Amino acid sequence: MEGDRALRAAVLVSGSGTNLQALLDRQAEGALAAEIVVVAADRSDAFGLVRAGQAGAPAHVVEYDHYLKSPLDELPPLPAHIDLEALDARQRILKTPDRARRLERLRRLVLAEKALIDILEEYRPDVVCLAGFMRLVSPHFIKHFNTEGRLRILNIHPALLPAFPGRHGYEDTFAYGCRWGGITVHFVDEGEDTGPIIAQVVYPVWPGDSVDDVKQRGLGLEYLMYAQCLNWLASGNIRLEKGGEPSGRIRAVITDPRYRTILEGWTAKSLTL
Ligand code: GRF
Repeated sequence: MEGDRALRAAVLVSGSGTNLQALLDRQAEGALAAEIVVVAADRSDAFGLVRAGQAGAPAHVVEYDHYLKSPLDELPPLPAHIDLEALDARQRILKTPDRARRLERLRRLVLAEKALIDILEEYRPDVVCLAGFMRLVSPHFIKHFNTEGRLRILNIHPALLPAFPGRHGYEDTFAYGCRWGGITVHFVDEGEDTGPIIAQVVYPVWPGDSVDDVKQRGLGLEYLMYAQCLNWLASGNIRLEKGGEPSGRIRAVITDPRYRTILEGWTAKSLTL
């Protein structure tokens, strides 16, 4: 995955796909050290699929609702090698206290993920980029891609983690009355938006801003950050370090000597958006 070869990137979307568009645009400009080899969505009306088609990237759908809502006997059986109980013991995303209901939900999620993995693997991605993919990923999906100690799933989150994980980063930042909002690009682990942070940037929330103003400012930064993080990954400029006690948390460190200049550029830009 490291070195000068372009990374093979799969991009997962659920909605408008403006981050995907930014990556496709960078790729077209020759400014992305990754090739977007496949785009996949969890719903057929995700506009990101149209964007992929326009750019000539293969686009696929796995209808998650089919897996999550159809009668169980209409779904394929769970492959024998998948141990649902073991996955449940590791997962930190499904909080349903009723064990039977939680296991059923996990089963459905894993079946959807299996369909997704089968599609993605046809394109042999080095990295999977969640770009507005509004689904939880289970330990099954994570384990499939994170092999040999490599973290291969990235996410972009519209808040300064660990503040405001979840689906409404901009809204939560705004509603809390924060003076600064932030964007985080991170590796995905088994929690909700808890994986090792690759990059963060902050932007001001000005008096009189609407939540939409905040969102537009943040999105302007998202487009810069995701491409840069992929470029760092491609050039081997993200090093993983195991932290000391008490957490032992894995941390990602950017080794690019231009890091400071790049961060200064993002920060300066945030004041102009
Ligand atoms: C972005 O704000 C991203 O940070 C979040 O979902 C949103 C996706 O927007 N994960 P888009 O589909 O890329 O326009």
